[in-house]
Amino acid sequence: MRDALVLLTVLAAVAAGLWAWRRWHPGSFWLVVGYPITALSVLASWRRVALGCGLTKKRQRFWFTTVPGMVASTGVVRVKRRFQRIAVDTKPFMWLPLPTRHGWRVTLHTLEGQTPGDYADAAERLAHSWGVHAIRASSPRPGRVVLMATMHDPLVKVDHLPASTDLLKVIVGRLENGKPWTIDFQTVPHWLNAGATQSGKSNLANALIVGLAPQPVALVGFDLKGGVEFTPYSPRLSALATSRAETVTLLDDLVGLMVDRMGLCRQAGARNIWQLPPGIRPIPIVVLVDELAELYLMADKREKDEIAKTSTALLRVAQLGRAFGIYLFCCGQRIGSDLGPGVTALRAQCSGRICHRVNDPETATMTLGDLDPAALVSARAIPAETPGVAIVAGQDGQWYRARSFYVTEQTAEHAARTYAHLAPSWDEITTHLPESVNA
Ligand SMILES: Nc1ncnc2c1ncn2[C@@H]1O[C@H](COP(=O)(O)OP(=O)(O)OP(=O)(O)O)[C@@H](O)[C@H]1O
Ligand SMILES: [Mg+2]
Repeated sequence: MRDALVLLTVLAAVAAGLWAWRRWHPGSFWLVVGYPITALSVLASWRRVALGCGLTKKRQRFWFTTVPGMVASTGVVRVKRRFQRIAVDTKPFMWLPLPTRHGWRVTLHTLEGQTPGDYADAAERLAHSWGVHAIRASSPRPGRVVLMATMHDPLVKVDHLPASTDLLKVIVGRLENGKPWTIDFQTVPHWLNAGATQSGKSNLANALIVGLAPQPVALVGFDLKGGVEFTPYSPRLSALATSRAETVTLLDDLVGLMVDRMGLCRQAGARNIWQLPPGIRPIPIVVLVDELAELYLMADKREKDEIAKTSTALLRVAQLGRAFGIYLFCCGQRIGSDLGPGVTALRAQCSGRICHRVNDPETATMTLGDLDPAALVSARAIPAETPGVAIVAGQDGQWYRARSFYVTEQTAEHAARTYAHLAPSWDEITTHLPESVNA
């Protein structure tokens, strides 16, 4: 009786210790306790899981058995011979699972006739079989597939990362694999940022403003929601258009500026502004558009010409802007062809795609284009309780779930005021061309 009591006390103490360890230092607990158990159980269950998820192939094998009736891979083989050829379900070879920040990853050798797509299709079934939050399949090289398992949704709470110091590069949040979510205008010059109302589009624009404000970059805003979103940031903006007339003028200026920069590059024998010597290189401009649809919506017939002009100018900026240091970041609830033919062409120019929570499958398809269908399913599955979560496609051609850092309007306003002195005036940008051009 006394022994049993001691044993119970020891067990309770161990359980409490483990609980406290997991609670206060989940990282080391996972590495020392959780991961080895998980790795062993994944290896042990792989044959059953692969069979259940349809990832095995039948292969002919010679099989020696002492009891002929016992070989039962495809039913009981009732032959008298001891050495026989039978069909065996072969599973893909699996390496040892390795621990990651939010779970584990494992490399597999694909079987003949399999593609990484087969594993991506089975991802949800695999996740349920292993009881993990999600499985993502990728292929580092032909014949290999890496399965990345996340135990819990890492995007429920994202902590801030240090700001990037590189020009035109902003860390705006975290990807589901724990890596930073970076918007790098030098790699991907134009971006579409779509999502239903309250999905986190403006929050992402705030994160961009906070990241770009300390950099030697001019910021320009288009806000046809009456300027309510961007006016508070005007100290750091070099220009802001809040009405249709202002939009037309500002876009005209931007196109004119682009033509001037073209001339400058031609004279200097450069293909883009980055090949110009730093002394005469014009400042890069990031153009932020909130609610893109407002630029295209027509209240009455008189606006038709203005809208046509806007559409053409915006498209020209998108087509030629990259070489001349003008970058676009367009936010909108819908970015569909119903807004006019100009939008489809603009969409084609924007290779960076961000799709927040959407209400209808068309918006996801319009934003993410012909990306992996699993990306579209993921976009539609973003819950309303996690604003800021988005599907991101860009830099490396892959898609990721990601969540932006929470950046309040106050933080963005504070950054805009703090770095107001870095905002060149619009006159300065448009008229002050280096001597070599005016000469
Ligand atoms: N990354 C985030 N983390 C936490 N909360 C967020 C995040 N992004 C947005 N939110 C919350 O969601 C709310 C709505 O976000 P936001 O204003 O960016 O949406 P929106 O898509 O711009 O909506 P609308 O189309 O109405 O302008 C914000 O007030 C904020 O509280
Ligand atoms: Mg908004």
